[in-house]
Order: sequence, then structure tokens, then C-alpha cells
Amino acid sequence: MGHRVLVNNRMDLSLSKLRSITETLPPELQGHLERVRKVAIRLAERHKVDRLKVELGSLGHDIYRAHDEECLLSLAKSKKIHISPIEECLPIMLHGPLAAIRIEEECDITDPDVLQAVRWHTTACPSMNKVGLIVFLADKIEPAKLTGIKYLATVAKIAENSLESAVLRYLTEDITWRLKNENLVHPAAIEARNDLLKILS
Ligand SMILES: [Fe+2]
Ligand SMILES: [Fe+2]
Repeated sequence: MGHRVLVNNRMDLSLSKLRSITETLPPELQGHLERVRKVAIRLAERHKVDRLKVELGSLGHDIYRAHDEECLLSLAKSKKIHISPIEECLPIMLHGPLAAIRIEEECDITDPDVLQAVRWHTTACPSMNKVGLIVFLADKIEPAKLTGIKYLATVAKIAENSLESAVLRYLTEDITWRLKNENLVHPAAIEARNDLLKILS
């Protein structure tokens, strides 16, 4: 049996373990995960990115999204995650990092692309891999969210041609909105945008 087949078998097993976690989540959240999965798989096919990795990232990204902030903070402390000042203010920001830890521990997902995608799906980060770019975008442009904010349709259109340009556009719009509305901006979002500007110049 080739290495590739073995890796895929292991990832299939991880996928079924992950499914047994997502099946316990609230129905609205399961709906979001399923929509993100569909958008992400389509983007993966279009940009020739590994479908299984994208599927694992999509289904795993929000497994802690329905947990309350107190729970996220205490989980982060028990997992010894570094809690930055912005995460102290907005503990919901911890749901990605916590999800990455859980899918590694409980679903044996060790692929660094998938773990990075899940960990950084809220803010993006510098040097995002293609799986991460796709999960980030699919999370923002899934059909239920697409109707809410005007610029998302543009982001979705750009994503057809360039994942990097689409994430850059999203971050520019999102950070601009946050600045105008006196909102906090996560440093990782700024760093991700700087990195994409450099890559795309
Ligand atoms: Fe999320
Ligand atoms: Fe999400």
C-alpha cells in the first residue's frame, strides 16, 4: 500500500472521529459547519487543494463556537494556552486554538495545514497555507453569511481566482470596519494582512 493511501486512510478515520464530535453540536452550528464544508470543498477543487484536509478543517473549525466564554477561558487555562490581552477581552477568540488542540487529541489529526487552518480561522495569520486560506474564506462566505454584508460577495468572487487576494480583501474590509467602529483588532489579522500584501506585491 502506498504512503498516500495510508495517509488517506488515517485521515478518513480522523474524519469519522470528528463527525462523532460535530453530531453532538447544536443544530444551527452543525448547519454552519456543513455549509462551510460545501463551500470549502468547491474552492479546494477549483484551486487543486487536498479535499480531505479541507473537509477536516471545515468540520473542525467551530467545534467550540457554542461554548460560553467562561468555559473557553477555563479550558484555555487547563490546556495552558497563552491568553493574550485581546483574548482576555474577547474569550470567544479562543475557540479556534482550543478546537485545534481537541481535534489533534481526540481525532488524531496531526496534519500541520489542518491544525493551522482551525487554529487561525477567526483572524487569519501570516504564512497561511492553502487549506487555511480556504477554511478562512469558506467560513466567511458560506451562503447564510453572504447575504448579511455587502463586500462578502466581492470576496467570494475574488476567491474564484486567488485565495490570497480574497483573504486580503476580506481583512482590509473587516479591519477598516473595526477601526471605524472603535472595535478591537487582533494583531494576527494585521500581521496576516501585511504578509499577504508582501506576497501579492
Ligand atoms: Fe469560528
Ligand atoms: Fe465558523
